[in-house]
Amino acid sequence: MKNILVTGGAGFIGSAFVRMMVEKYPDYNIIVLDKLTYAGNLDNLIPVHDEPNYRFEKGDIAHEATVQRVLETHDIDTIVNFAAESHVDRSILDPHAFVHTDVVGVYILLETARKLGINRFHHVSTDEVYGSLEEGFFNEGDPLEPNNPYSASKAGGELMIRAYHVTYGMHTTITRGSNTFGPYQYPEKLLPLFITEALQDRPLPLYGDGKQVRDWLYVEDHAAGIDLILHKGQPGDIYNIGGENERHNIDVIKYMLNYLGKPHSLIKHVEDRQAHDRRYALTNDKLRADLGWSPDTEFETAMQETIQWYVDNDWWWSKIKTGEYLEFYKQQYADRLANAK
Ligand code: NAD
Ligand code: DAU
Repeated sequence: MKNILVTGGAGFIGSAFVRMMVEKYPDYNIIVLDKLTYAGNLDNLIPVHDEPNYRFEKGDIAHEATVQRVLETHDIDTIVNFAAESHVDRSILDPHAFVHTDVVGVYILLETARKLGINRFHHVSTDEVYGSLEEGFFNEGDPLEPNNPYSASKAGGELMIRAYHVTYGMHTTITRGSNTFGPYQYPEKLLPLFITEALQDRPLPLYGDGKQVRDWLYVEDHAAGIDLILHKGQPGDIYNIGGENERHNIDVIKYMLNYLGKPHSLIKHVEDRQAHDRRYALTNDKLRADLGWSPDTEFETAMQETIQWYVDNDWWWSKIKTGEYLEFYKQQYADRLANAK
């Protein structure tokens, strides 16, 4: 492993992975390929901008000629694919881009890699591919039962990865991470949206009763788990990366408001998300047994660091909350908030 292509490296988790890898492995060259969609942000990569082992290429993973040029120019031997459309609510409004990137894009990456003889491919997937469960924990052998266009697209991409391993013998690995939080997360997802809105004393649109459960994983733990599996994962294997921090949404938000000293009355219960998965829960048993690893960040500490980061970095999020962002916000929330209880 020498020249690693990180697709989607200007996004939330991809940029955390790039910042970690550039510092941790000075002998590796880390090349980012990112389309810079609304969610891609070069500000996320400022900390590595001047590092000699980092390069950036703008482009679409679903555009074969671009992918081939980047793979050849940088003599890539390893691909780590973070690139995706990643927001469930946007996939419900319009699934098109999700199929383009999360299914077709994965295929183009795989096929171009195969043609050029690049054999190491790690794919970043999600616990959402399993669907929802009331009790117990999903393990890697459970069936895929995605419920929304985002998770269905991610499941489609995963199955193509599997096919390239079984058919062509490509050394693939897949991680299924749980709900990830931390600095530099685009403020459409629950935590960064609600933190930044609360800082402006604006209403917080909580879907339904707010008793949905997510398993919260700190972004640095997620990136570290991917690094480990990239180096030690077995060909064709799939690994859950759960945060081991199950919480009801409403409790996470109340914790955040308490930290900021803001009133709980900012919470507004609004019309639920369609096909809203009630609970995600993963077991890390395989990761622990095979690689002796599990995430170790303490939830409350990571939450405090995260909230404080948004408090200290309004330069980062205030310029995002303009233009297209406001259009999306209006489409997603205007009626919901007008009819809030
Ligand atoms: P994000 O939306 O913050 O970033 C996605 C990045 O991909 C952006 O930089 C965007 O510009 C880029 N991109 C989108 N389409 C592209 C294309 N066609 N070609 C090249 N680049 C493109 O997403 P994230 O939250 O950082 O998630 C990263 C990955 O991790 C995704 O694959 C997602 O499915 C997965 N994941 C996310 C979470 C989570 O809680 N955020 C949890 C588990 C897994
Ligand atoms: O579980 C992993 C997944 O986590 C990733 O694959 C996705 O890319 C990532 O977006 C995330 O999906 P969720 O749908 O769980 O995350 P989101 O932040 O959109 O929502 C978290 C919970 O909060 C969910 O139950 C819906 C709820 N929610 C979200 C928003 C944006 C609200 O109640 N109100 C909101 O405005």
